[in-house]
Formats: sequence, structure tokens, C-alpha cells
Amino acid sequence: MAKLSILEQKQIAAAAAAEFVENRMIVGLGSGSTSEFAVRLLAEKVKAGLKIVGVPSSITTEKLARRLKIPLVSDFGVITKIDLTIDGADEVDPQLNLIKGGGGALTREKIVTSRSERVIIIVDEKKLVKKLGKFAVPVEILPFGWRSTMELLRSFGARTKLREQAKTAPFRTDNGNYIVDCAFGKIKNPPLLAQQLKSIIGVVETGLFISRADLVLVGRNTGRVEEKWSA
Ligand code: 5RP
Repeated sequence: MAKLSILEQKQIAAAAAAEFVENRMIVGLGSGSTSEFAVRLLAEKVKAGLKIVGVPSSITTEKLARRLKIPLVSDFGVITKIDLTIDGADEVDPQLNLIKGGGGALTREKIVTSRSERVIIIVDEKKLVKKLGKFAVPVEILPFGWRSTMELLRSFGARTKLREQAKTAPFRTDNGNYIVDCAFGKIKNPPLLAQQLKSIIGVVETGLFISRADLVLVGRNTGRVEEKWSA
């Protein structure tokens, strides 16, 4: 049988996650191409009568969900708790720690996931790693004093690169900030590194998501979706 492509793996993981969404849930909507599959599937369910309210984790996701007519709150407003968030990731380790932020939405994603009762991460099998760190850790920083913030990131062993927008200007997040991609190589102690980076004044948030996933759904090239539950 033909093996599933990466896109198809993302699609089956998203479809499996959509099955966890129940009527009247407040649902955190992740960002990136895998999350987009999930948003599109949820929109179909809404069209068929499912009642949910979505909390988007980026402006791109918000625009997509609005276009697809998913009822939304764009800011938390009176909502303090999200029932379930479905989001993608750039890397997942065996403890279900994650690197996120390839699309630059890491801070809003972290706010949304941290307010969620349950977080389901959806990935293709290429995202599974033994140790985090092949993917450079995206770190959102304030533009003010960015060179010195970058210097401090380097002092923790990172090779740093300010993310650019079409090579002309720094990439700006939805919050108006910069992203520094920090290549550490294999990260020995992700929880410690997350704390260290977060302690730098000028760092808004890091793409290290520690103990945030309750369930990771991995689309395999065989067509199976593997469930990895947190311990
Ligand atoms: C965006 C993210 C994405 O979830 C992550 O980059 C995965 O993206 P994709 O699903 O396109 O592979 O964290 O900030």
C-alpha cells in the first residue's frame, strides 16, 4: 500500500483530534498547516450543527475561522477556561515536551494552551524526536534592546538568528515583537533551558512547551494515528 505523505499524515492526525470535540465546548484553535486541517474539519462540523466557540491562537487562524463561520472570541473576554485546544508542533520528545513557534505564534499559543483543560497536539511522524533541538527554538523578544537580548540568548549556548520577513525587515509577531531562532543542538534539559531563557529580561516567551500536551496524535505513514498520552 502507498505510504501517506506528510500532508496526509497531518490530515489524519487533525481528523482524529476533531473527534474529541464535543457540543458546547470552548475550543482553542492552534496555528500552522496541521491546525488548519483541524479548523477546516471543525468548520464542517459546525455547519452540520455542532455548537462550539473557538479561541484562535493567531490572527491567521482567526481570519480563517471567521471565514469558515466558526463562532469565535478573539480575545478571552469573560472566558477564563478553554475546554480543549488542538494545535500543531515542530518537535515532540518522548516526554511530550514540544518545540513550537515555527509560524511565529508561540506566545498566543502558549496563552491558549495554558488556559486549556486539555491540550491535543497533532503532528506528522517526522516531528517525533528523541531529544528536542534539531529545530531551532523560536523565542519571541521585545524589539527594544533586541541586540542585547540576543547576546544574552547566546550566553546560554544558542546560535541565534533574527527571523526576517522576506529578507528586508525583521519578522513581526501578531504582538508586534521579534522572533529569534535559537539553535542549541540536542537540548539536554528542556525544562531548565525553558526557565533560563524565560528569565532573560526582554524575552516575551519561548517556543519550549514543557508538560503542556495531554495527548499527542501522530499521523503515521501507514495511515494509522498513534496516540501518545502524557504520563
Ligand atoms: C506555529 C506553530 C505550529 O503549530 C508549528 O510550527 C507546526 O506547524 P505545521 O503544522 O505547519 O507543521 O507552532 O507557531
